[in-house]
Amino acid sequence: MALFNFLSNDLAIDLGTANTLIWMKGKNIVLNEPTIVAYEKNSKEIIAIGHDAKDMLGRTHKDIAIIRPLRDGAIADFEITEGFLKALIRKVSNSWQPARRIVVCVPSGITEVEKRAVRDSCEHAGAKEVHLVAEPMASAIGVGLDVHESTGNMIVDIGGGTTEIAVISLSGIVESESIRIAGDEMTDAIVNHFRRKHNLLIGDKTAEGIKCAVGSAVPLEIETTIEVKGRNISQGRPEQIMTSSVDIREALSDPIAQIVSAILSVLERVSGEIASDIYDRGIILTGGGALLNGLDERIRKETSLAVHIGDDPLTAVVRGTGKILENLNDYSSVLIKSTRY
Ligand SMILES: Nc1ncnc2c1ncn2[C@@H]1O[C@H](COP(=O)(O)OP(=O)(O)OP(=O)(O)O)[C@@H](O)[C@H]1O
Ligand SMILES: [Mg+2]
Repeated sequence: MALFNFLSNDLAIDLGTANTLIWMKGKNIVLNEPTIVAYEKNSKEIIAIGHDAKDMLGRTHKDIAIIRPLRDGAIADFEITEGFLKALIRKVSNSWQPARRIVVCVPSGITEVEKRAVRDSCEHAGAKEVHLVAEPMASAIGVGLDVHESTGNMIVDIGGGTTEIAVISLSGIVESESIRIAGDEMTDAIVNHFRRKHNLLIGDKTAEGIKCAVGSAVPLEIETTIEVKGRNISQGRPEQIMTSSVDIREALSDPIAQIVSAILSVLERVSGEIASDIYDRGIILTGGGALLNGLDERIRKETSLAVHIGDDPLTAVVRGTGKILENLNDYSSVLIKSTRY
């Protein structure tokens, strides 16, 4: 039995809209790839996934489509999502020992049909037992919160497609909100800002790079200038313009205001007891969006609460899901109840 356990390929998966991470039982994180798929349009045959598919962006011909199957926190294409999951699972599993048990983390806002699709995909990839867990619950466990205790904790996971705000106590989600405004919307806001204000068409990759390098949510001690290249829309020619971190902050102001307002609205709904817990403990931020310069400070200012960024915010969810997998008995109460029909 011990040998069987040692050989087992039980997996914990963070199926994110931007990045998918896999934790293998006893082995920590074994895979971290963008949630991107390249496939042949006619046959729907998958050609590449993850980094390989991302590298193909902008370099394919018309018969190949490259998509992010989970963009915006919902499953856009079931068939492709299943193919993606199966290919990843195959990549990390030994062929002679398929994953027997899989714990998958899903956005808390996904529908029953989408949950069913994720469950089925894992089963089709060979899993005998599939458990689902809500993203904010997994990130709370990942940053080391004791989710079983009778104290309220507020966690805000700002990913690519969704911002999940949850208050957790006694192994359950007491109050939550999931909005489809997160890192991708910040990137889109930068693209739109350049189009409208600077008459310049820039790519998503460029916009994401600008966001990570000079994006901010509060005025900076030293504001910087940057050069941005794109296509001048009216002249139709490549062009380079100079702009500043102040301008980029203006571009980001709308999505950031929406995230702050969702946090405030969850705070308004909690009970007095839980409000007092959150006052003592503050808010914990996870997800890649938490890395935006000054976002923690901005939330601190707007809520008058302490705000902490969890350790290694990009891997918090998979580490939490991994912890659940390693201690399934202790964490059975945090799993999403099965809705088999
Ligand atoms: N330094 C940074 N500054 C700002 N944004 C960042 C930074 N690093 C990563 N991001 C953003 O974080 C997002 C990805 O975060 P993450 O991997 O947590 O998302 P995800 O888990 O795939 O998505 P979701 O949780 O919504 O399903 C992207 O939008 C990315 O641009
Ligand atoms: Mg995530």
